[in-house]
This record gives sequence, C-alpha cells and structure tokens, in this order.
Amino acid sequence: MFCILIFFCFWHLVDGVKIVTVMEGDSVTLHTDVSDIPIYYKHYIEWRFAAEDTRVRVISLDVMTGEIIYYNDQIFIDRLQINNQTGSLTISNIRTTDSGLYHYQVHRFREYFNVTVYARLPIPVITRYSTCSSSSSGSSSSVSRCSLLCSVLNVSDVTLSWYKENSLLSSISVSDVISSVSLHLEVEYQDNNTYSCVVNNSFIDQTQHLDTELCQTHPDIVHCYSFTEAVIRLVVSAVVGVATVAIVVYDITSRRAGKKRRTSQSVPE
Ligand SMILES: *[C@@H]1O[C@H](CO)[C@@H](O)[C@H](O)[C@H]1NC(C)=O
Ligand SMILES: *[C@@H]1O[C@H](CO)[C@@H](O)[C@H](O)[C@H]1NC(C)=O
Ligand SMILES: *[C@@H]1O[C@H](CO)[C@@H](O)[C@H](O)[C@H]1NC(C)=O
Ligand SMILES: *[C@@H]1O[C@H](CO)[C@@H](O)[C@H](O)[C@H]1NC(C)=O
Ligand SMILES: *[C@@H]1O[C@H](CO)[C@@H](O)[C@H](O)[C@H]1NC(C)=O
Repeated sequence: MFCILIFFCFWHLVDGVKIVTVMEGDSVTLHTDVSDIPIYYKHYIEWRFAAEDTRVRVISLDVMTGEIIYYNDQIFIDRLQINNQTGSLTISNIRTTDSGLYHYQVHRFREYFNVTVYARLPIPVITRYSTCSSSSSGSSSSVSRCSLLCSVLNVSDVTLSWYKENSLLSSISVSDVISSVSLHLEVEYQDNNTYSCVVNNSFIDQTQHLDTELCQTHPDIVHCYSFTEAVIRLVVSAVVGVATVAIVVYDITSRRAGKKRRTSQSVPE
C-alpha cells in the first residue's frame, strides 16, 4: 500500500490483483511484498508484463550479484528502474500503452498488478466570438449577449460541460479520438455570474473558469469572429497535431494490416 506518485494513485486489491491507476507522464512504483518469503529464495526476481497483444519478460534482478537484465528494451526504453534491495519496479514517464497486467515472481510466489494509465486532459480554452453588429445577420440581441465557445483539442472519451456556479447548463460527450470538441454558451453582456467549462473523462477533470472581463467589453471593440470562424481557428491550430497523429496512426495501421483505423475528426460545418 505504498505509492510514490506526483499526481494520482489508487490502489485496491481485487482477487489478489492490485489495481493501480496512474496518469500518463507520471511515475509509478510497483512495490513487492516478499517479506514472508524465506531469505534463500529471494536471490532472483523477475518482472513480466502482459497487455492485449504483448506478453513479455521485462526485467530481472539477481539480488546476490546486483545484476539487472533488461528484456524487450524497445517497450520501456530507459524508463524502468528496479530497486536492488526490494525488487520493487518503477516505471517512469508512463504511457497509455503501458497499461496492462504486471507481475513479479520470486521463487514460486507471484503478485499481480493491473495497471491502467489514463490520458492527460488539456485545460479547455474559452474564447469569445460575436456576430459583428455591422454584419447583416447581426440582430440587436447579439450585441447585448456574449457568445462563448469552450473547446478542447485532441481528446478521446470525454465530456465537455458548461456550469453556472455549480449547476450544469449543457454538455456534450464524445468517444473515440477526436481533433476538437467545442461547446457554445451565450451569457448576458456584463453578466457577473461565475461560469466554468469542465472537461472530464472517467478519471479526471480539468476546469477553466470564465474570466469575467471577457464579457465586460462591448462587442464592438472585441475581435469579431463568427461561430464558424472561431471553430475554424481552433481546428486550424490543431491540424498540425492531428496530422502527426494521423501519420502515426496510418503508420501503425499499415504495419498491422487488418486493424481498424481509430482516428476520426469532427470538424463542425
Ligand atoms: C544497489 O543500488 C545502489 C544505488 O543505485 C548502489 O549504490 C548499490 O551499489 C547497488 N547494490 C548492488 C549490490 O548492486
Ligand atoms: C484490469 O482492470 C481493468 C479496469 O478495472 C479491467 O477492465 C481489466 O479487465 C483488468 N485486466 C485484468 C487482466 O485483470
Ligand atoms: C457586473 O459588474 C460590472 C463591473 O463591476 C458592473 O458595471 C455591472 O453593472 C455588473 N452587472 C450586473 C448585471 O450586475
Ligand atoms: C464526466 O463526468 C460525468 C459526471 O461525473 C459522468 O457522468 C461522465 O460519464 C464523465 N465522462 C466520461 C467521458 O467519463
Ligand atoms: C495529440 O495527441 C497525441 C497522442 O496523445 C500527441 O502525440 C500529440 O502531440 C497531440 N497533439 C496536440 C496538438 O496536442
């Protein structure tokens, strides 16, 4: 029940399997509990990792000589550390692909750790846009209202919500990998209530509070974007990132023929 983590860490025991939840980029230490094992059996410890299509030995430690052997180095390049006294394993800069079942073996004793690595969530961005009062469609109501757009880029399996104080105003949920999610909100010009935009997945959430200044200025003197333009600006800034993802995904897809492509892009309009 130890935990060396920068952000979050939850340990439970389910049917003898320790459940470990860790956020992408953090470090986690899987602690061995070999105190009950006679000393003469503790000279050798070995860690293995199993995921959907991987089942490999990753590291072994000869306690007597201090010799450490790394196997299948390409998975955990320079990210594994083993404590040469206890055999505890530290995985640093953890990746979502490191999720899976880990176990160590000392003599005949095994202990399992079910590790789930969840993706970091970006903080949502709130931008103001307005139908300019000079535009043909500009009605008088658009001048006295403040149109806001909350967006997050490059996320999967998230819910994006607007809150007024603590009450939910609206929300949108997306699954799959998506380039941008946006949710619109209109508030009164000079509305002094507290609004916030929250993005969450099943593990964490990230909140952006509406800067009250944003809706204090008169629409005429803020930069005018149409809704479409506001979305396009966000999407354009994400295109480089998404292109990278697309190339990586394409690369993986072409190597593993038959695996379904999992990138989808949502570009409103
Ligand atoms: C164990 O690790 C420590 C610190 O990394 C090192 O100083 C020590 O020499 C190691 N012991 C053995 C037996 O390898
Ligand atoms: C690990 O935990 C996850 C989430 O609780 C679960 O979906 C998965 O089936 C578990 N895997 C194993 C091998 O126990
Ligand atoms: C909101 O605050 C501003 C500045 O403090 C004030 O001028 C405005 O009248 C307030 N609006 C409302 C609706 O109370
Ligand atoms: C976000 O949080 C809400 C409320 O806690 C929850 O119902 C929803 O399932 C969460 N979204 C995701 C994608 O897990
Ligand atoms: C999108 O996510 C991928 C993988 O998580 C990451 O490599 C890439 O840098 C991200 N792109 C942006 C624009 O955040």
